[in-house]
Amino acid sequence: MEIIDIVSRIVHVATAITLVGGSVFMLLVLMPSAKILSEESHDRLAEAVIGRWKKFVHLGVLLFLVSGLYNYVRIMPKRQGDGLYHALVGIKILLALGVFFLAAALVGRSPALEGFRRKRAKWLTVLVAVAAVIVIISGYVKVSR
Ligand code: HEM
Repeated sequence: MEIIDIVSRIVHVATAITLVGGSVFMLLVLMPSAKILSEESHDRLAEAVIGRWKKFVHLGVLLFLVSGLYNYVRIMPKRQGDGLYHALVGIKILLALGVFFLAAALVGRSPALEGFRRKRAKWLTVLVAVAAVIVIISGYVKVSR
């Protein structure tokens, strides 16, 4: 096993912990708790939180893509002919692209994606649910052989 394989796995899992964990915290703890604030304080807090979280999202997407593609290229030869593995990883990658889009829309400024930000709780719920499916698929393919 090469050192870079280990580093890539650690980076991938650490990114998943940080981004999925942060999203769950935001949806289930921060957003409900922030409802007690006045509208002005709420908006100031939201702006500060999103401003900081945006950096995690952008770096996290990059790390997911680099480490995920590296893992995939390394694992591919060992899984040749394993149709179920490739189908599940393919589905997982497509779902991950959907999650990246939602995450970027929720921290972004593009007026075209304002609709997602207006219904933040709804789309963050979708993001967390899809991320949970991704973690389930990833855990399954890791140990299935
Ligand atoms: C929301 C985004 C993502 C999440 C939450 C996620 C999560 C995970 C988790 C928890 C694992 C298991 C790691 C382990 O047990 O060692 C994993 C493995 C993996 N991920 Fe991701 N991942 C995401 C995005 C991606 C992307 C974009 C790619 C590819 C471009 C990718 C490719 C892989 C591969 C190839 C593995 C190894 C599977 C195996 O062990 O056979 N992931 N991912």
